[in-house]
Amino acid sequence: MRHESYESDPMSETIDISVLKSTWSSPLDPAALLPVLAPIGQARTLPAEAYTSAEVHRWELANFFEGSWVCAGRSSVLERSGDQTAVRVGTEGILLVRDADGALRGFYNVCRHRGHELLECGATTNRRGIVCPYHAWAYGLDGRLRGAPRFRHLTSTDPVHEGLLPAAVSEWHGWLFVNPSGAAPPFAQHVGNLDELVGAHRPEQLVLGATHHYEVAANWKIVVENYHECYHCTSIHPELCRVTPPSSGDSSVPTGLWVGGSMDLMPHAKTMSISGESQGVFLPGLDEGSRRQVFYYGMFPTFLISLHPDYVLTHRLEPLTPDRTRIECQWLFPAEAMERPDFDPSYAVEFWDLTNRQDWQACESVQRGVASRGYRQGPLAIEEDNVHQFQTMVAGGYLQGGPARPVAPARRATSPSVEGSFGD
Ligand code: FES
Ligand code: FE
Repeated sequence: MRHESYESDPMSETIDISVLKSTWSSPLDPAALLPVLAPIGQARTLPAEAYTSAEVHRWELANFFEGSWVCAGRSSVLERSGDQTAVRVGTEGILLVRDADGALRGFYNVCRHRGHELLECGATTNRRGIVCPYHAWAYGLDGRLRGAPRFRHLTSTDPVHEGLLPAAVSEWHGWLFVNPSGAAPPFAQHVGNLDELVGAHRPEQLVLGATHHYEVAANWKIVVENYHECYHCTSIHPELCRVTPPSSGDSSVPTGLWVGGSMDLMPHAKTMSISGESQGVFLPGLDEGSRRQVFYYGMFPTFLISLHPDYVLTHRLEPLTPDRTRIECQWLFPAEAMERPDFDPSYAVEFWDLTNRQDWQACESVQRGVASRGYRQGPLAIEEDNVHQFQTMVAGGYLQGGPARPVAPARRATSPSVEGSFGD
């Protein structure tokens, strides 16, 4: 990607290292993290433990996942009043419910009786209330306790009458989000100006066309980092390079916890597909410029949104272990295309399934590399500046004790040390 120049740092929040040194509770030695926060050109990648340590993994689940806003899938799963689903974020289970007024509600997936889960994680149901499968305690869709079979000795002041404990949830452009700790900043602050950038493609109006699941033997950050650069495209994505010039595009300046930018389509290409042809229709409302670009955004920690002229692709990552990540990939299309009897989404699905598998191979190789005693923190190319941005969120997050905004956007480098063409 090409990058904009910045005269001043638009990020108002920077990390005060002197304060951190006296208070840090980072899961990693700050001495290994400070090089990650250096400007691109001098910055190094994350230390090996960030990708391999069980202790760091546990810390991330508690602080980067439970302590942040995590995408829990499409809102269409909870279309009707009474629809319910349970999701796992970090180590927490959250019950998501569409209430009688159509509002989204979230509760800890824990019964007030003896703690049984109200719904199995990943399951969906529709009923007029929430019923615990263990002893059939019943709750309203608002979470209030409605009934406890054969339980006559509860006083009216017993705290169980409060019902289910609420969890922070949000709905954004057709996706569900959960913040299990309740301690993350407001969702609007989390997304910042990504709201207007994604909003232009109106993903809330799109219909789910396909879902693929993958399990990759790599740390979740390696998968995100791979998403954020096309420096590798000429080496491993011949099909992708035929429809998009790998060095094209711009990086955006985020005001929230996200990183991303755009890439251009080749003159002959209408979209990202093997032939460059589209079998669908343009997303409604897109201007001429946006019909010639693909936008790639990664919302911290693990929601990747790829906006194409005629479809939207998302990757939702779930970290399983330090070296294993489950990935859900979804393709969304305009209703107008989906309603056509001859519509076949495979032009988009097959292209990205192929590209995904090329990427997973590279990610798994990197995981084996970072786990070797031969790994050292490496330098980043200018083309990898979104990787740098992401890694500053991670390193800054370790030091701050929770999700952090990118410390500084990349500058278009002018110094010889950065512009040097070693290896050209
Ligand atoms: Fe839910 Fe007993 S644990 S009813
Ligand atoms: Fe790739």
